[in-house]
Amino acid sequence: MRKEHKTIGGYIELQLPEGQEQYPSFIKLNTGRNAFEYLLRIKKYSLVYLPYFTCEVLLEPLRRLSIPYRFYRIDRQLEPQIDFEPEENACLLYTNYFGIKQDTVRRLAKTVKNLIVDNAQAFFCPPVAGIDTFYSCRKFFGVPDGAYLYTESNTRLSLESDISVYRFSHLIKSIDLSIETGYHDYLKNNIILGNNPIKKMSVLSQRILSGIDYEECRSIRNANFQHLHQGLAGINQLPIQLDSIDGPMVYPLVIDQSGARKALIAKKIFVATYWPNVLEWAGEDLFEHYLARHLLPLPLDHRYRIRDMDHILETVRSLL
Ligand SMILES: Cc1ncc(COP(=O)(O)O)c(C=O)c1O
Repeated sequence: MRKEHKTIGGYIELQLPEGQEQYPSFIKLNTGRNAFEYLLRIKKYSLVYLPYFTCEVLLEPLRRLSIPYRFYRIDRQLEPQIDFEPEENACLLYTNYFGIKQDTVRRLAKTVKNLIVDNAQAFFCPPVAGIDTFYSCRKFFGVPDGAYLYTESNTRLSLESDISVYRFSHLIKSIDLSIETGYHDYLKNNIILGNNPIKKMSVLSQRILSGIDYEECRSIRNANFQHLHQGLAGINQLPIQLDSIDGPMVYPLVIDQSGARKALIAKKIFVATYWPNVLEWAGEDLFEHYLARHLLPLPLDHRYRIRDMDHILETVRSLL
């Protein structure tokens, strides 16, 4: 049978740069949480160890698959406190926090059986060979969804493709109107992504991800991170090892300054809370609770240059 030729002519479509994705050979899925679900389904784990300090959307697949989970703690260096013996068919998920914990990931890869690495905050950290690792694209780039999964397993689920076009309005509004105008749509999109079944990454997200200059994004993030660190290392309660950091998500500043988050937001420096659910999961006496309250994840992505980082530094200093 002759294959039908593609349509020729008609209106001109949105033109996007053509290039290569960062992880072209990985399994391409619609969301990070669903990449986690994909792993749970193919590996058939019967128990999951999760850090208290993570995002609650990771519970969605566990509830869907009725897999029990237990929380474990992290210490003040964000290292997991594995003071228990994981069961034979259990897995342990570790989050590469802010993209600054690659050394820890490498260490855990050697010692923890059935390790799953959540690189949702560490897009630029490559997986450690043989270690199941997933990525979420929307935390780093202007896409509504998209995830990559690296696994050595050959088992594959058969999936239909997701369609992203109806989750796009915040991305377009931010260009033509303003980030603030698109914010409501962004929140709506977050709700829509909840309990969305596993699907393949949409063609639209994949096309956008194929047109990004990843090296440029990575080097801007590194320069911005270093600049912020120079200015803030002296007051940051979180110890940071600069040499292994490559393409981080944010600069994690921890200071015991009540009202700092609100004050930054009032000055139009938007810092999220990672994560509101941690305040419910972890008791007030736990470090995780303290971290969720006092962490200020300072933006440093490809949209910003050193002068923007200087503005952040000045603003933070004005709060002290
Ligand atoms: C640490 C972490 N892991 C995983 C996810 C899930 O990613 P996605 O929104 O693509 O499902 C998120 C956020 O949503 C996250 O913050």
